[in-house]
Amino acid sequence: ASFSTSSSACAPVPVKNITVFGSGLMGAGIVQVAAQNNFNVTMVDLNPQALQKGQDIITSSLKRVAKKQFPEDAQKQAEFIEKTMTRVKTSTDSEEASKDADLIIEAIVENLKTKQQLFAMLDKVAPEHTLFCSNTSSLPIGEIAKATKRVDRFGGLHFFNPVPQMKLVEVIRTEATSQDSFDSLLDVCTRMKKTPVSCKDTPGFIVNRLLVPYMMESLRIVERGEATPQDVDTAMKLGAGFPMGPFELADFVGLDTMKFIVDGWRKEGKIDDNLVAPVQLLDDLVAQGNLGRKSGQGFYPYSGVGGKK
Ligand code: 3HC
Repeated sequence: ASFSTSSSACAPVPVKNITVFGSGLMGAGIVQVAAQNNFNVTMVDLNPQALQKGQDIITSSLKRVAKKQFPEDAQKQAEFIEKTMTRVKTSTDSEEASKDADLIIEAIVENLKTKQQLFAMLDKVAPEHTLFCSNTSSLPIGEIAKATKRVDRFGGLHFFNPVPQMKLVEVIRTEATSQDSFDSLLDVCTRMKKTPVSCKDTPGFIVNRLLVPYMMESLRIVERGEATPQDVDTAMKLGAGFPMGPFELADFVGLDTMKFIVDGWRKEGKIDDNLVAPVQLLDDLVAQGNLGRKSGQGFYPYSGVGGKK
């Protein structure tokens, strides 16, 4: 099957200015990678505290990148960080922050209504040519796009955690995404030094469609008492070459996030029920507030919230 392409009112957009909504781990990561690769970026969130957190995420990640790029040259490291940060503006004013945007990337809370409300508002205030994207990992792009009148300039750009390190971006086109918009998104990924893959607007796209059922099946192995989380992790790292085992990865992604994705897919009913059947072990951990790395405890304990094992 081939993608249907609708004709676009606009020519391809040479993206220079990017506005990112959401300054959490994903939003901040996207801002950082864009700024490192010479885009002008504006990071938007609801309040200055959230923006400060986002800036902190960026600076600590930039320190790692700088150390790698300029080993043993503290001066150059500092210059690189400073230069990158000059390309990052922050704002709590959504309208003002969208005025000059060529591309808006949304990485806010995974709630369809909230995302639709944001985009409906942005559709009215952003320039005609501005491309809209969501970084959602669990919601249909087409449903979010429906809130706007620019469905031909709407797509998905799905980044992976940690954004500065993971080389992939999934570029999602809906039935309505125009070829020009799609080409512009591919071009942005390449200029961010990421490798894009394209996928239709389907649950989990490519990576999560495969990764999440695999992680759920790992939980079932443990629930049936067949192996321990530690042994499953060791097995997949040393036997399949994965950088993290499924339990380490679940803790890294967040157990609440995983549950949210699976519950959503089950409700949507587009995926084989067996693949997304609930697992008591996961539901229990989430109910107890043991969400993984971010809460200090998941399948493994972490020293300090978000800290290492
Ligand atoms: N910023 C910049 N660089 C970072 C970084 C960050 N936040 N986190 C890690 N890195 C870099 C390090 O600098 C290091 O670089 P180098 O190898 O070039 O020196 C490299 O990553 C490895 O880091 P560490 O040595 O500290 O640790 P590890 O070797 O254990 O690697 C990892 C950490 C990169 C997270 C690796 O374990 C990994 O790739 N894990 C799998 C991650 C994954 O699968 N992510 C996808 C999750 S699914 C998702 O995001 C979708 C969502 O929608 C649910």
